[in-house]
Amino acid sequence: MRVLKTIGELRDYRGGLKGSVGLVPTMGFLHEGHLSLVRRSIIECDHTVVSIFVNPTQFGPAEDFNNYPRDTERDLGLLESAGANAVFLPGVEEMYAPGADTLVLPGRIADRLEGAVRPGHFKGVATVVLKLFNLAQPHRAYFGQKDAQQVAVIRKMVADLNVPVEVVVMPTVREADGLAMSSRNSYLTTEERQAATVLYRSLRLAEDLIAAGERDPVIVRQRMIDLINTEPLASIDYVSVADASSLEELTFVAKPALISLAVRIGRTRLIDNIILS
Ligand code: PAJ
Repeated sequence: MRVLKTIGELRDYRGGLKGSVGLVPTMGFLHEGHLSLVRRSIIECDHTVVSIFVNPTQFGPAEDFNNYPRDTERDLGLLESAGANAVFLPGVEEMYAPGADTLVLPGRIADRLEGAVRPGHFKGVATVVLKLFNLAQPHRAYFGQKDAQQVAVIRKMVADLNVPVEVVVMPTVREADGLAMSSRNSYLTTEERQAATVLYRSLRLAEDLIAAGERDPVIVRQRMIDLINTEPLASIDYVSVADASSLEELTFVAKPALISLAVRIGRTRLIDNIILS
């Protein structure tokens, strides 16, 4: 497995490749969710490049950029065992040269949900992802459904800016009790870890209500909110029942619907979602 630390090294490596290339962008501290993307790329592509870069431009000033968990040695071991061909591991100055101030401005799809609570977040995501696409020039790029709005923003960017890449989306990998795997789960205390199961329980409640015939999104949201509020450590950022492609809130539950939520458990902000299709 090649470890590439500079843009020059990545460009040289990419220039020498024949056949299809898969890219898996990550911020590291890898878990089974990330590895499921890597494994799919290895199956589908001749070469798999994984990037590990905690991207400062997608973190707000009061967010956890400095504390974001990092363990590069462990990540490299996991990627080597999984069979990745190369890892791109740039420093911040390598990705953002002094004076670089051109950004990708996503459209309206980035204004809602996560974008409303984290202004500028998707501008940072879109910018770094487009840079990674330009550097690695992948045929396919792999993303997780866990970050549903991120997928929507990237798909829209790829379509609107004619980026020659196929976006592949993989299902959310969960712990045995349903908690979606996330690098940020490492922030949780034992008590908070137990409380965090309320996210998936509330998604399952919504699924059950809709399966039983409930079509009023106001009622579905309220039942989810009531359940989450039984958990003293949880505080809700948003609960949404939206159209899965436009991300507009629904006035009547029709499929495909994206049920998504962001909840703070103690000081840790977690997101999760399900798609009813
Ligand atoms: P990160 O949070 O490290 O996630 C990297 C990729 O792994 C994303 O596509 C994310 O959706 C996927 N992923 C995370 N948890 C998952 C899970 N439980 N199941 C399946 N897939 C999962 O998302 C980012 O990094 C960044 O925003 C990035 C795209 C790298 C741009 O900086």
